[in-house]
Formats: sequence, C-alpha cells, structure tokens
Amino acid sequence: MPHAEIDAPAALSVQPCAAPLGADVTGIDLSRPLQPADVQAIQQAWARHLVLRFRGQHALTLEGLARFSGHFGPLDLRPTASMAMSREHDELPPEITVISNVKVGGKPLGALGDGEAVWHTDMTYKPVPPKGACLYAAEVPPSGGNTHFANMYAAYETLSDALKARIEGLRCVHDASRNSAGELRLGYEDVSDPRQTKGAVHPIVSTHAVTGRKCLLLGRRRNAYIVGLDLAESEQLLDALWAHATRPELTWTQVWQVGDLMMWDNTCTMHKRDAFDPAARRLMYRTQIAGVATP
Ligand code: OGA
Ligand code: MN
Repeated sequence: MPHAEIDAPAALSVQPCAAPLGADVTGIDLSRPLQPADVQAIQQAWARHLVLRFRGQHALTLEGLARFSGHFGPLDLRPTASMAMSREHDELPPEITVISNVKVGGKPLGALGDGEAVWHTDMTYKPVPPKGACLYAAEVPPSGGNTHFANMYAAYETLSDALKARIEGLRCVHDASRNSAGELRLGYEDVSDPRQTKGAVHPIVSTHAVTGRKCLLLGRRRNAYIVGLDLAESEQLLDALWAHATRPELTWTQVWQVGDLMMWDNTCTMHKRDAFDPAARRLMYRTQIAGVATP
C-alpha cells in the first residue's frame, strides 16, 4: 500500500528576539529551492513572530527574492514609477521595487529617499492592503536608516477596557495623498481638513485572516479621520491610539546588514525608518505579497 509522503524535517531554526515581535531564521539559504517543510515552518514562524529576519543571504538574486516571496502568496507588481525616477529599474523583474536614495544621472533609482519614513502600515489607503512585504539589503549606510516594527496585536491587547469599548465598531479613513516619506502621490491633492481625506475606510480593530486575533489597524497618522466623529474628537482619539501603539516597548529595531532579508506581516504590524546621511548609499530590493479580500 502506498504510504503518505512525509516531508523531511526542516533544517531551519527560529530564534525569537527579545522584543514583542521579530525572530531570526537561520539554517536556510534562500537562494536554493525551498522544501515544502521549509515553507510551512516559515509560515508558522511568520504567524507567530510577525516579522522574520534572514541574515547573510548573499547568494540571493532578484529572481530568487521574487521566487522566495512567491511562496507566501501572489506578488504585486512594481508600481509605475514617477517621471522624476530613473528608468534603470525597468530592467528588473516586474515584482521587484527599489527602495533607495542612490541617484543615477541625478534621478533616484528608487523610493523613499534618505529622510525619515514615518510610522505606517503599507498601502492601507487601498480597500485590500498588501498581506506582507520582503525587503532585502544590497547596500546599507554606516549608520542610520534603521527600520522599526511595532506589534499591533499587542497594541490592541494592552489598551484599557474603556478604550477597547470606545473603538469597537469605529472606522477610520486612511489617507492616500502622501507616502511615508511625506511625498505627494501622483494625481492627489494636498489635504488640509482630515474630514476631506480620500482613501479606503477600515475598522480600527481588525481580525487577522490567519490567526483570528484582533489587532489595531491605524495605517498612518497624517490626515486620518474617524468616520462620524467631530474632528476634535477624532484627533484626540487618534492621538491617544497612536501614542499607545508606538510605545518603544511594542517595537523591534532592525539594524541592517548587507544580505539581510526582512519579511513583515503587513496586516498586524507597523514600521518606520530612520533618516540617514544623504551622502551614504542605501539600496534595498522589495517585493510585496498581495492582500486577500475578506468576504
Ligand atoms: C517599505 C518601507 C522602510 C525601509 O519598503 O515599505 O517602508 O526601511 N521601507 O526602507
Ligand atoms: Mn512601508
């Protein structure tokens, strides 16, 4: 009688870091084909730790980065670049986006420049935000440019009962006009009154599609507005939630090394990036795992 095929146990190992989210995954070379058991072990670790770091992935090519990312869902294609951006990335695989301050012929190779990128969850101004992203470091500045991650399950769970009750059922508008580096997006006008904000509306408390756990979904602070409240009331409540959700004890900081690959669950975390010396080079390659519409 044929017996069920049993996958070889994964050789990789997962070391949680001393923070409320984040783990290092070792013992795996992501440039090589992944075994089903590896994919499963990574998926489990991802659900448990929200952000995974794979160090020393020096053999990974951009095709390899896209292939690895594709194990966790269909990938979004690189967004259309603005005219101000160099065309060099036209040569890259279509799933790869460049995040970089490096300029070629006076034009940036990629997005986000060298300034601070404020706390955000990626693309929550869309009705179905991405499920996650992978960011791979090809060149890092000698200092600065660190990326911080915050656990939005913990942010929800540590709210007072009064605040939990206050936000139950409330929905927030997520501003599409500016990116996390503060740049106005193509085709958008500046918003001065948050009640006029254009973007998707999401419940402030969301339920994770895989874990079923509740988490805060804040998106980004600028121009956010809680539907149906007075502006002053909305501002006050959002300020309280943001102050709570970005407390350092809910975060983990990634200090980049060349060859690091970070993979974050975009539906239960936020991230921000520190500024760095404009004279230094930072070159990162990014993939984005598409969101799944909930019925
Ligand atoms: C992103 C992002 C931060 C960084 O790629 O979505 O916010 O550290 N990047 O480059
Ligand atoms: Mn981002």
